Amino acid sequence: MPDANSLGLLLITLSCIATGLYTWRRIHYPSFWLVAGYPLTALAVRAAWRKVALGCGLTKKRARWWFTLTPGSIVSTGTVKVRRRFRRVAVDTKPWMWLPVPTRHGWRVTVHLLEGQVPADYSDVAERLAHSWRVHAVRVASPRPGRVVLAATMHDPLVRIDQLPPSGELLKVTVGRLETGKPWVIDFRTVPHWLNAGATQSGKSNLANALLVGLAPQPVALVGFDLKGGVELTPYGPRLSALATSRAESVGLLDDLVALMVDRMGLCRTAGARNIWQLAPAIRPVPVVVLVDELAELYLMADKSEKDEIAKTSTALLRVAQLGRAFGIYLFCCGQRIGADLGPGVTALRAQCSGRICHRVNDPETATMTLGDLDPAALVSARAIAAETPGVAIVAGQDGQWYRARSYYVAEQTAEHVARMYADRTPSWAQITETACTTEMNTADLNELLNA
Ligand SMILES: Nc1ncnc2c1ncn2[C@@H]1O[C@H](COP(=O)(O)OP(=O)(O)O)[C@@H](O)[C@H]1O
Ligand SMILES: [Mg+2]
Repeated sequence: MPDANSLGLLLITLSCIATGLYTWRRIHYPSFWLVAGYPLTALAVRAAWRKVALGCGLTKKRARWWFTLTPGSIVSTGTVKVRRRFRRVAVDTKPWMWLPVPTRHGWRVTVHLLEGQVPADYSDVAERLAHSWRVHAVRVASPRPGRVVLAATMHDPLVRIDQLPPSGELLKVTVGRLETGKPWVIDFRTVPHWLNAGATQSGKSNLANALLVGLAPQPVALVGFDLKGGVELTPYGPRLSALATSRAESVGLLDDLVALMVDRMGLCRTAGARNIWQLAPAIRPVPVVVLVDELAELYLMADKSEKDEIAKTSTALLRVAQLGRAFGIYLFCCGQRIGADLGPGVTALRAQCSGRICHRVNDPETATMTLGDLDPAALVSARAIAAETPGVAIVAGQDGQWYRARSYYVAEQTAEHVARMYADRTPSWAQITETACTTEMNTADLNELLNA
């Protein structure tokens, strides 16, 4: 029997180890996870896979030859004699699972689908899997037929995220971080037009700030539409080439944009280029990013007299969305509701915006309107965004997948400061539109192109 001394020593050693592990975990979680956490988790996940798969309904019955007990004759005492022999029995087969590999915030594992299974069977039980594995969330992806990759995140990586790194490439801005730990990048050259939806205080403006901070040092022109009296975008005026704060101004500015597009179209045609990126850098016009603060304001009618102006606005914005990509005009539209109730123009505009961002929303319809054509799980995830984490959003666009993401916190003061700092890089609107002209022929050309 161990004496009191050695027992005490054992307890002290154990508590030292526990304290050491705890401190290690607190000080440098990534290395702790890789060395101590992950190997144990991987073994536990593999060991319990049969039970978990069975519990989540991911197994299939298969007939197998098993060496198993079979009841034999009943002897005179009344007991049943059993014998072991080979017999075909129905057994639950689990899907084949590879060894989990560690990731920054958890682990991921590839699973072979059983016959008749589809990736959706796994997405449907993602929540059950997350609870069985005691992780924050499980995301399902299917990189190739017959395989699914289950990615588990241990904790919500979006609760606290680090600072905004400077953006490198033209029209590409890192605005936050994805749940996977990768940067959240808005790249206008890959996805030209974006919808950014969310309730008030959900982080829409913060994202626009992050975008502005990223774009300000770049050789791009920024244009704003802020029909809430200009309260949101006026402070960034020094870096904006043009800003419309009333309906009349927005009609004028949109006319300018359409004229600019027609002009660039002519330029490309003369040079035999399909888009401005095929033009020689010396003659390539400056790209224009259009920020719309509250999209609904552009469509809402206070009285009948505005009807024509709204129709004009709607058509012009749609034209910009349809043809802007090739001619270096990109849209970033924010709004609380981006629904068909605002008019048919919005639905058409929405169809042109392949980049979708859905912050916390008050009603399921807004999530459906923003992310409608995506996986239903994206909608569930969008509706589950908590008010305590503004800036968290569901993002779709770049690669056809959807992700949970969070923008970096960029205070209005920071954005204002950056706008002033790079004020000298603001091309003047007169300079940009210098050559643009709306001749009848050009408008006819445009119509022909739009109807083609
Ligand atoms: N990514 C973020 N991280 C931390 N706080 C954020 C983030 N995004 C927004 N916030 C906070 O939420 C508040 C509301 O955000 P805002 O962008 O003004 O929302 P909206 O424009 O949707 O009404 C901001 O004042 C800011 O403090
Ligand atoms: Mg706002």
